[in-house]
Amino acid sequence: PPRDDQQVFDALIEADSRVEPRDWMPDAYRRTLVRQISQHAHSEIIGMQPEANWITRAPSLKRKAILIAKVQDEGGHGLYLYSAAQTLGASREDMLDQLHAGKARYSSIFNYPARTWADMGAIGWLVDGAAICNQVALCRTSYGPYARAMVRICKEESFHQRQGFEILLALSRGTEEQHQMAQDAVDRWYRPALMMFGPPDAESPNSRQSMAWKIKRVSNDELRRRFVGMCVPQFEALGLTMPDPELRFDEETGQWEPGPIDWDEFHEILAGRGPLNAERMRRRRAAHDEGAWVRDAAAAYARKQTERPAP
Ligand code: 3HC
Repeated sequence: PPRDDQQVFDALIEADSRVEPRDWMPDAYRRTLVRQISQHAHSEIIGMQPEANWITRAPSLKRKAILIAKVQDEGGHGLYLYSAAQTLGASREDMLDQLHAGKARYSSIFNYPARTWADMGAIGWLVDGAAICNQVALCRTSYGPYARAMVRICKEESFHQRQGFEILLALSRGTEEQHQMAQDAVDRWYRPALMMFGPPDAESPNSRQSMAWKIKRVSNDELRRRFVGMCVPQFEALGLTMPDPELRFDEETGQWEPGPIDWDEFHEILAGRGPLNAERMRRRRAAHDEGAWVRDAAAAYARKQTERPAP
């Protein structure tokens, strides 16, 4: 017997298949994907700011070139993700308007200051490392364009994570002062990186439905535990102390459980009261305004191509 749209959709999800832009999908499925993908894109774009601050302060030409390449990658990830959101009918202008009006979220992690060069290592290793944990799982998300965007983004994030690790290793093995700078940076970035995975599962309003639609394939807490488990041996290799005195190994599950996280700090940042929320948004709006001429020129050029008489 012919199946109605909902039954076809449910069968796709059940079979771990991919939902494509032209497939019928529940409005709520479309809405939560536009929410998550656009916020993911906003995170990439805002995430360029902490690192941009250190491009002119990099300690060598090699480090400067690597950092420029990384920041350029983040911009590209943002464009990739905005394009994935546009396949769901979202408009680029609307998504950016929501960000600029403070109506759309971006990852809490980018509201913290990047105080020293060692922060470039901590961001590359911890922040991109956490992003990889989350994004590897998203390679299996049920919406086709999002999953495919993740495959390429994960490849580039791995380079980001390795270069961050290498910056910290060089500092950790350097002078006592450099070692302390590396320790201070990981002390400041470790716990905020754990917040990137979202609130505890029991306080995650979107998780149940996102897991049912296989948008989210692994829960917030499970990904957080996996990330912490990856950090343990890497802190050892770096010769740095893991800033998590209550971290413990759960013999039963064979997993590392992080110590308590300050969710009040997390909610303060989500409410826009983090250390640098206002500064990040001011810079974003300014960059958007300063870039208007580029968008106008590109649009004028595109129009000329379509108006050009056929040869
Ligand atoms: N920062 C800001 N907001 C957060 C957050 C964080 N770290 N964690 C959760 N939230 C928000 C959620 O967006 C949701 O609010 P909303 O309903 O208004 O959107 C609310 O807190 C409750 O959280 P839930 O767990 O219910 O929400 P989700 O099911 O959407 O899970 C998520 C949150 C795990 C972040 C999920 O949205 C996700 O996987 N997003 C894609 C990954 C992403 O955005 N990564 C950004 C990391 S930075 C980055 O990638 C750049 C890299 O190059 C370094």
